[in-house]
Amino acid sequence: MKKYLIALMMVLAPMTASAAGGAGVPLDSMNVDLENKASLQRGMATFVNRCMGCHSAQYQRFERAATDLEMPNELVEEHLIFDSNKKIGEQMTIAMAKEDAQNWFGNPPPDLTLESRLRGPDWVYTYLRSFYQDEARPWGVNNTVFPDVGMPNVLEDLQGTVINHCTPEELHSGSHGKVDPLTGDRIGGCMTVVPETGSMSEEEFDQYVYDLVNFMAYMGEPSAMVSGKIGTYVLIFLAILFVFAFALKKEYWKDIH
Ligand code: HEC
Repeated sequence: MKKYLIALMMVLAPMTASAAGGAGVPLDSMNVDLENKASLQRGMATFVNRCMGCHSAQYQRFERAATDLEMPNELVEEHLIFDSNKKIGEQMTIAMAKEDAQNWFGNPPPDLTLESRLRGPDWVYTYLRSFYQDEARPWGVNNTVFPDVGMPNVLEDLQGTVINHCTPEELHSGSHGKVDPLTGDRIGGCMTVVPETGSMSEEEFDQYVYDLVNFMAYMGEPSAMVSGKIGTYVLIFLAILFVFAFALKKEYWKDIH
């Protein structure tokens, strides 16, 4: 019995671990939806506009994304590729040199192709919405799930300036921004947004970050889109096969009974 209990604990342990952030802060959850092409398209636009100044996605090709996200190549070339020397068949790399980035930020901005697989979509979704003002830091911001992060809050003009009124315990317990699973509202928050500093409402901003992370989840595993479809076809095939197999079984057994 004891053996089974230990085995069960070992099976369940990773589940509880992945539900918490790097700093042990509870994460807000998001459901990746690779069928929602409009969301993925908006997410890609945000990624190239807001993130590719510093982060590459070197394992992703523009053309593959255009195909998977159902966007015409010409439109992607015109609106989403800013480097005029770049062709649609190339990878989503950037011009910033690693050494420069190391000097400017302390830590170089990592490649983000596989980030959502590394940290999980929930972590990235929570991280991008958890920057707050902290004058002690070089960029004037800190982050609840990534303490002392070297990245500036590049979405501040949309979300607004977030002020931290939390006690250290509240910060670690995640009550700074717990989302009510029923209403989607923030409850018991000890962080406030300075009015008029962000151009989006809280819901708009959450949706904006959702789309971005949805796209990052696609990048981390582009084949998930196809394998989901293949799975459906396989099930339909099995259902049809069942009808014939059943008819055949009846045929074989009809003289025996
Ligand atoms: C001005 C440059 C800059 C921009 C623009 C930028 N980042 Fe970053 N980002 C960084 C730096 C630098 C780090 C490394 C921070 C560290 O390790 O302390 C980082 C780290 C990250 C991490 C954590 C990586 C890890 O697992 O350690 C994620 C996730 C991330 N960025 C996502 C984004 C997204 C999404 C965008 C676009 C909305 C973006 N970043 C835009 C500079 C930038």
